[in-house]
Amino acid sequence: MENLEALTFALVALFSFMLWRVLYSCWVLPIRAYRKLAINGFNGPPPSFPLGNTIEMKKTMTTESSSSSSSLTVSNDIHSRAFPYFAQWQKSYGKVFMYWLGTEPFLYIADPEFLKKISSGVMGKSWGKPTVFKKDRKPMFGDGLVMVEGDDWAMAGMMMETTTSMLDRWTKLINSGNPEIDIEREIISTAGEIIAKTSFGMDFENGRTVFKKLRAMQETLFKYNRYVGVPFSKYLCLGHNLEAKRLGKEIDALLLSIIVDRKKSMAQNGCSKDGKNLLDVLLEDNHVERQKARKLSTSELVDECKTFFFGGHETTALAITWSLLMLAEHPMWQHELREEIKQVIGDGDIDATMVAGLKKMGWVMSEVLRLYPTAPNVQRQARGDIRVDEDTVVPDGTNIWIDVVSMHHDQEFWGEDVNEFKPESFKDDVHGGCKHKMGYLPFGFGGRMCVGRNLSALEYKIVLSLILTKFSFSLSPNYTHLPSIMLSLRPRQGLPLIMKPL
Ligand code: HEM
Repeated sequence: MENLEALTFALVALFSFMLWRVLYSCWVLPIRAYRKLAINGFNGPPPSFPLGNTIEMKKTMTTESSSSSSSLTVSNDIHSRAFPYFAQWQKSYGKVFMYWLGTEPFLYIADPEFLKKISSGVMGKSWGKPTVFKKDRKPMFGDGLVMVEGDDWAMAGMMMETTTSMLDRWTKLINSGNPEIDIEREIISTAGEIIAKTSFGMDFENGRTVFKKLRAMQETLFKYNRYVGVPFSKYLCLGHNLEAKRLGKEIDALLLSIIVDRKKSMAQNGCSKDGKNLLDVLLEDNHVERQKARKLSTSELVDECKTFFFGGHETTALAITWSLLMLAEHPMWQHELREEIKQVIGDGDIDATMVAGLKKMGWVMSEVLRLYPTAPNVQRQARGDIRVDEDTVVPDGTNIWIDVVSMHHDQEFWGEDVNEFKPESFKDDVHGGCKHKMGYLPFGFGGRMCVGRNLSALEYKIVLSLILTKFSFSLSPNYTHLPSIMLSLRPRQGLPLIMKPL
């Protein structure tokens, strides 16, 4: 009898403790965070418990999707299409406000001056990446992030080889009477192949398998609203989350086998004589020791590979895709770039040292990343209170969502012709004439800025040069202009172009 009482007591105590923990993290902590933000003068759309503002975001998104389904003209004024809920809230709450994903507080920022203030307030303290996203996206990115660079020369050769075989395929299609090509699909798969070869020395088959699985995972994680931030949401969307986990495990296993093979081959033969790829650099003990003062474990290496594989191919591929849209709309710029390629490269092969001379192409890339920032937002999490000014503090733990699309389309900083395509604005100014230095952030900012900037410019210029010297192109009447967010900013229904061999 006594034993039964003791057991009942223990169970009740355990249950009460668990209930208290759930209430504390899902109710007490969010209320505290809400009060702290409100005391510091941040307001925003009223959240409901436990979904925050998720339902309103979902509804606005659905309304926007159905109202813009017949958008046939190409307007570069894309903010209200990409982030309709933020565009709407901006009208009521300005360029800095608080909103809630479930019980997670977010500070929305589309004001470069405010961003400058909080960045200088951070000083020695570190910004983190939001824990809520890190956990949610773990199957895709793991915990990867190191700074490595491969061998430009070897990379350029592989980029040309892969792009040339894509262009040969296009020529065959055109010759067989199919001049309309879905450029987005083609470029993304070629960029996937490029990153697989240049970064990890993968063969075509393995590269394609990782690429396909990552793509499926991206759909699972970002196409459906999975109530990120809502307590216990992983059980609400169990099917999608288990699917992402399964795909994540399969990718890990494949990458692991590639790493193990590469390690063996390096131990037997040393580095490849064709130049080092990114994985070789990561595997070299001395480099790793310089970077982290210790060796990376194999599972950390797998995470690094995943981060690079995804970060490295889609953003660059979409920058090329949106550029082809802009160039199809502005044939004069196709002409300008062909002339530049003739002058800088001539008729021979492109080598990595030449691409720096393609200045106008660099302006086009910068302007396209302004109008269509393929990484449409940057996220941080305050680790410690961040002082903005005498009266305002961003409290420890607050997630920060920086709306890059909004800042790149803000008349106040870019002038009345903000939505026009004007690559020449970048001729003498790396900020493209933006009145605020923090108003142009295609690669992020500060210590966590994109580590692949140079590699992406190399790939962008090589791929675009090869396309421009072989084809002229115009927009297909089947194109529908629907820039939308699926982690990156992409044309929702692809980019069909009519290609004509030169
Ligand atoms: C046009 C092409 C690209 C764009 C627009 C882009 C943009 C970005 C942005 C906005 C960030 C976040 C920076 C921040 O938080 O301040 C980022 C991070 C990163 N990028 Fe890129 N990127 C591009 C190409 C590449 C390439 C080619 C690679 C690798 C080969 C790469 C690897 C990474 C990595 C590893 C990170 C860090 C990820 C993390 O912190 O979780 N990126 N990039």
